Amino acid sequence: MNSDQYPRLRRLRRNATLRDMLNENRLSASEFIYPIFVLNGSGVRTTIEPMPGIDQMSADIAAEEAQRAMAAGVKSVLLFGIPDVKDPTGSRSSSPDEAVQQAISAIKRSSPATYVITDVCLCEYTDHGHCGIISGDEVDNDATLPLLAETAISHAEAGADMVAPSAMMDGQVSAIRSGLNDNGFPDIPIMGYSAKYASAFYGPFRTAVDSAPQFGDRRAYQMAPGQGREAMREIEADIDEGADIIMVKPALAYLDVIKEASMRYDTPLAAYNVSGEYSMLAAAGQAGWIDRERAMLEVLGSIKRAGADLIITYSAIEAAEIISKG
Ligand code: PBG
Repeated sequence: MNSDQYPRLRRLRRNATLRDMLNENRLSASEFIYPIFVLNGSGVRTTIEPMPGIDQMSADIAAEEAQRAMAAGVKSVLLFGIPDVKDPTGSRSSSPDEAVQQAISAIKRSSPATYVITDVCLCEYTDHGHCGIISGDEVDNDATLPLLAETAISHAEAGADMVAPSAMMDGQVSAIRSGLNDNGFPDIPIMGYSAKYASAFYGPFRTAVDSAPQFGDRRAYQMAPGQGREAMREIEADIDEGADIIMVKPALAYLDVIKEASMRYDTPLAAYNVSGEYSMLAAAGQAGWIDRERAMLEVLGSIKRAGADLIITYSAIEAAEIISKG
């Protein structure tokens, strides 16, 4: 074969500037959402063993963390609360005195431009660790909906900009939409955790918020990992119920689902680069088995390439700092 007879793709790879010019998927700090774990008290910061670099923090420290994120170009945070007391109905989830509600106002005071999103779920607040209330030996879908709506309203009252229901109860987006509308918050958008899988990759998160189910597991409400087409039904249901943004979670083992959703739907799409995905790179990096920074950017790039518009990631600040250095 004559050397002119086949494509010379390497021509465009020989020069660093040209490679940069041709970059199809440029990550940007403004598409990152940074999760923060908040607990009660003040001046408190506690490490989370399986998530090196990520801490639980009280509202005042969370406000500083939001400023640090903003300084790096990360303009949005996603709050998770850790209550002091858990009970069967997760009653602390809608209390104005709880960590999330306090952190919302602390962040808004010290960093008004930060866009504050809140996770709406009961699992951090229930003593049994399930995402809804229990009837018999099951999570009661319809009895849980008003509690999720109340929680979302309490977040909006505290000043949240957006709420993100993650309980995987059918009808949760519509229940929250009605609740917000009826309480004077028709303009607060909802980001649905639309296709959320029953995943082993949430392990470190459950350590972080102490929410491992005390009996059974979440497979009766979160999706089975093999389900690709069912994810489209979940997403469609959320869009029908009024979700403003849809989500696929986790990201890495579900890039095909992200891709498919991005091609089918015009609703903005978020992907959640979950705790276990973070911990794997942290552990391999600490062992010296992987170049953690490069792997992190490669992972985030893959999520973007799959079609996510927004990436929720514990690496947000670090990645933003690396990106800004060029
Ligand atoms: C709450 C919730 C979970 C995560 C986000 N919201 C845990 C779960 O469903 O068990 C996981 C996030 C992560 O692993 O980073 N329902």
